[in-house]
This record gives sequence, C-alpha cells and structure tokens, in this order.
Amino acid sequence: MSRVQSPQTGFELAPLERFGAQVSGLDLRQPIGEPVAAQLRRALAEHQILIVRGQSLPPAEQTRFARCFGEDEPGIARRPASHQVPGHPNILYLSNRPGSPTTEYGVAWHSDGLAYARVPHGATLLHCIACPPEVGATLFASQYLAYEAMPADLRRRLRDLYWYLPPIAFSEVPPGRGLAQPMVRAHPVTGREFLFCSPGAQRIRGLSRQDSEELLRIVHDYQVRERWVYRHRWRELDVVLWENCALLHNRDDVVDFERHGLRAMHRSATCGNFAAIECEAADD
Ligand SMILES: [Fe+2]
Repeated sequence: MSRVQSPQTGFELAPLERFGAQVSGLDLRQPIGEPVAAQLRRALAEHQILIVRGQSLPPAEQTRFARCFGEDEPGIARRPASHQVPGHPNILYLSNRPGSPTTEYGVAWHSDGLAYARVPHGATLLHCIACPPEVGATLFASQYLAYEAMPADLRRRLRDLYWYLPPIAFSEVPPGRGLAQPMVRAHPVTGREFLFCSPGAQRIRGLSRQDSEELLRIVHDYQVRERWVYRHRWRELDVVLWENCALLHNRDDVVDFERHGLRAMHRSATCGNFAAIECEAADD
C-alpha cells in the first residue's frame, strides 16, 4: 500500500489493493473547505470508494460532508419517518434492531437507484454507528474491472445496447412509454468506461426475450466475480463513501440482533449525473 501525502490539503490517501482508498488526517466534524472537497471529489472519481475511519460524526455534520459531493438525493426524505434519523429526514437509519423497517435493506447486489430510477444516485455515504465484529461486511464490485475483463468483441457489442428499467409505480413517463439505460457509460471526470447494468435488468432493447436473457446472463456473470470485489469489514465510526455509477454493492449477511448485537448505520446519498432515456416500453 503506497501512501501519498497531499501538500495542498494535508490529508493522506492510501489506495487499497484493487480499488478504493483510505483517507486519513481529516476530522469531518469540522468544515473541510472547498479545496479539500474538490480533492476528495477527484479522489472519489479515481478510487470509487473513500474510507475515513474513526469519525464521531453527528447527523448535521454528516449532511454537511455529504453535500460536498452533491445535492441530497430526494428519495430518503419521501420515506416514512421510521426510516429516518430523527430530526434529519435526509438521513436513512439502517438498523437490525427487531421491528426496524430497514433490517434487510441492501441484501442482494445492486447500485442505489439503478434498478428503477430515471436518475440513479450519485454518491452514497454510510456512517457506522454500531457494529459487531466479524459479521455484516459490505461487498463492492468494480464495474470498471468487470468491463475491462470482457473480451473486446463483447465490449463492442454492449456499447450500442440499452436495457430497460423495470416499470415502477408513479413512473415519471406516461403509460406506454419506458425508460432505458445504456449498458456502457464513460465517467464524466476520468473518461474511463464501465459496465452500467442492474443485476435486475430483464430485457435489452431491440433484442428478443431469448437473446436478451442469454446476453444478460453473460453480463451478470462478469459483474460480481471475486477478483473485483472489495469486502469492507466495518469498524464503529467508519465513514465509507462510494460512487454508485461504476460499483455494485451488497450486504454480506443480515446480522442477527439477538446473537450479535446492534448494527446501525446512518446513510446519506446524493443526486446522480446519469439520466435514463425515455423510449418505447418493453414489448412483453
Ligand atoms: Fe444500497
């Protein structure tokens, strides 16, 4: 692990083995200032995940830090109050306490909002309030590395294809219309291409159902291979921030409260940059 001291800001960035980086030298309870925020945005674009350990971060300061990476994603505020941190409707409260409505959130590979939203989330931030040791890790799969591992002819084929988002209640498009996302996108900061496909995608635009299913099986098979998965083992007071666009993530397990104790997170999220295209609905 090589350490790079940043002369402009004083924080340290220690890249992990394949992707992700640990940040040290910051106290997120204090305002970080625009020059540091700009450096962190660049670091997030390059490394995909930033990990800041040991942050005792009250909700208001968490919100201030999260907003360095974009405006609040509006979906959390629309949820019932029982899903939110009291007094902070923009922060989701994830807890395994019996009766919690968020106990099983995040189990299955996904990217926040990618399965259904016209504009999937930008960055997601999790602040670990409490966690038992050895259980409840979060897994991240790099969709840059998945794409780069594909044979050139498959990458070429995917570049022209779009997949349909599943229909949602209160859709933003009129009846009979659909939304689709391209299979491959380029990062607006780095220009690097990545696979952009929800594991829940069921149809590819312009292909028969059978051809769709066959190609999606191949794509999904590449998406979460062990070689491009990072496993984050949580410590209390961790802040983990990631870009949703080129990552999928998943909960390793649902932590049993009675057996292991409390696992609780405060989650913020920002608006993304990649809108779906409006098109005809899938013909099934
Ligand atoms: Fe998630």
